[in-house]
Amino acid sequence: MRETIVAGNWKMNTTIADAMAIVGGVLRRNDEFGRVKVIFLPPSIWLVPIKERYRSATLGAQNIYSHLRGPYTGELSVEMLHAIAKYVLVGHSERRTVFGEDHALINAKLKTVLQANLRPILAVGEEAKLNIGKKEKRDILALVKKSELGRSLVSATRGLSHSQWSKMVLAYEPVWAIGSGQAASGNYANSIIGALRAMVVQLANDKVATNIPILYGGSVSRYTAPDFAQFENIDGVLVGNASLRVAEFSNIIEIFALARARRKNENSA
Ligand code: PGA
Repeated sequence: MRETIVAGNWKMNTTIADAMAIVGGVLRRNDEFGRVKVIFLPPSIWLVPIKERYRSATLGAQNIYSHLRGPYTGELSVEMLHAIAKYVLVGHSERRTVFGEDHALINAKLKTVLQANLRPILAVGEEAKLNIGKKEKRDILALVKKSELGRSLVSATRGLSHSQWSKMVLAYEPVWAIGSGQAASGNYANSIIGALRAMVVQLANDKVATNIPILYGGSVSRYTAPDFAQFENIDGVLVGNASLRVAEFSNIIEIFALARARRKNENSA
């Protein structure tokens, strides 16, 4: 069974007090962690104090630079994350649009993260909803492949070895759904994620594609989470805004933990 992951991307939000309250609160409220991997992605300045206080928290960085050290004012190196964070978000649409990150930089960042033995969470997504209507799987795959979404997956992962692929987490984040309050439907996300998984078969191989966790992100809330959790192909969620609220984020974790437990029972029955 693939990993189930619920990650919280706090973006440029929280004070140090908020940061401690969120991580402490979520860790206290959840005994479901055995089944769901919970990852906090706080602003980088809070990574160390969080880790000092909550050793058991799994942390990720929202961004790193592709070089290891040098004259890069304001940037963070993967070497600085050693023993603090295990994951790094790469390719988020805000990095692409607000900070102008292009395919080449995203590919370089991804490789830097992998070489440092950290796990990248690679985000890809389309600007405008794809017209998948009632198309067959094959036709959805063709549509995704020639879209910006498919092209960004290909260029971000150019030159990765199969063993590097096997450390990756993918996050399908339609740009139109991020921060809009309009999440994609579970059905839509499931179809696109199916196509992305089929692309991974071609870009890597069957084994990688079977094992790679693919998350959905974009306006996930306690209300929209159940619609994603019901699909076996959707391995969790990358949550923005709702990850800043302890009760709601905990609720989303619980929704995925229960869905996972149910599926496990069904599979073993
Ligand atoms: P949102 O953000 O949940 O606030 O839409 C998701 C993301 O940007 O990862």
